[in-house]
Amino acid sequence: MSGPSKYVPNSGFEKWLDRRLPLIRFAYDTMVDFPTPKNLNYWWTFGGILAIFLVIQILTGIILVMHYVPHVDFAFASVAHIMRDVNGGWLVRYMHMVGASFFFLAVYIHIFRGLYYGSYKEPRELLWGLGVIIYLLMVITAFMGYVLPWGQMSFWGATVITNIASAIPVVGEPIHKWLLGGFAVGQPTLNRFLSLHYLMPFVIAGVVVLHIWALHVPGNNNPTGVEVKDVEKETLPFHPYYTIKDGFAILIFLMVYVAFVFFAPEALNHPDNYIPANAQVTPAHIVPEWYLLPFYAILRAIDFDLLFIPAKLGGVIAMGGAILIWLALPLLDSSKIKSMRYRPLGKIFWFLFLVNFVILGFCGANIGEPWTTISKIGVIYYFAYFLVILPLLGIYEKPKTPPASIADSISGAH
Ligand code: HEM
Repeated sequence: MSGPSKYVPNSGFEKWLDRRLPLIRFAYDTMVDFPTPKNLNYWWTFGGILAIFLVIQILTGIILVMHYVPHVDFAFASVAHIMRDVNGGWLVRYMHMVGASFFFLAVYIHIFRGLYYGSYKEPRELLWGLGVIIYLLMVITAFMGYVLPWGQMSFWGATVITNIASAIPVVGEPIHKWLLGGFAVGQPTLNRFLSLHYLMPFVIAGVVVLHIWALHVPGNNNPTGVEVKDVEKETLPFHPYYTIKDGFAILIFLMVYVAFVFFAPEALNHPDNYIPANAQVTPAHIVPEWYLLPFYAILRAIDFDLLFIPAKLGGVIAMGGAILIWLALPLLDSSKIKSMRYRPLGKIFWFLFLVNFVILGFCGANIGEPWTTISKIGVIYYFAYFLVILPLLGIYEKPKTPPASIADSISGAH
């Protein structure tokens, strides 16, 4: 997509460096000259927003660790110390805490954008797959981070979720103990969770590099789903056009984020996490952070044995499968048309999928009826969308004819 490099080294130093390690050429080709379709809308700014949030999380996290104490007797108090005594500590902690929520908000928008415009389809299957791996790593990282303040939700959330491992037949129990470093969530668990919570964002950063590399080979998809045919007519250099557009979107998104940091930092937090962890007292409802609720609902919806599969294992398979099935999406969606813009039925089912995902989130936050029944229906629709609806639509849906080229769609020929 990017074609031959147009970088011309100017100064003596640039010429010297270019013959040895063409770093500036690389930066120029990927961030300045990179040909980007002219018709990208604002949903394409979320990749950049995500990159900013990864940086925010790493920087604020590094500062928090300077004051945090990973010990069961001191962790909770060390967080209170950060909030009350450390200069600007409250700000750094709220930036990190609210940052996690906004990181997930952005990633969900990014994923649903991909689902709508068929960005997972050939030739971007690998780009999509790397995204799924990033998402899984984000979930693991966020889960372990939530354990660190050692509040009631930290402790009991960790207890419930690590217990999932024990559902695996035969090896489940040993794996469970191995994860915890003991028979229950305790000091060894806290220590290793901090170690891994610190490590993971750098692994994510590594996979993001691959993700962006895999983006730069085929180039961006675009709202029409029609590939670029004429680079001259249909693309613009990334800089200044998209640096300005992405920059604008990043600023707006950051303004909303900052408003939450300063005016409603606890809005998305569970109050029980301000009660120190207590192994003797179980909270009335154990719930994860909002961004994990849909998958928590899927885990709990399977509360019945399925043939030889016990309920607990069934829930674990359903929850894991709900994310892993994204990897098979390029195979499951057989439609020749990428963008839902030209798929009248696909568009409706995509919208229902989005609504269903949000409803599953509510089911994850509540217990008893009608939530249990709704979550079961939600799980059926969730899997039917991938395994039945998309494959059948690929065969039977009559799509509208997309424009012959991006140039046509821009000139209004379509
Ligand atoms: C730390 C997390 C992530 C970062 C920093 C990131 C970054 C980016 C960037 C910069 C782009 C190009 C701009 C854009 O299309 O918005 C992009 C595109 C893309 N990303 Fe991500 N991404 C992340 C997570 C994900 C996840 C979780 C998925 C899917 C499960 C995903 C799937 C895609 C796809 C399919 C594209 C191509 C979009 C297109 O051109 O139509 N990404 N990503």
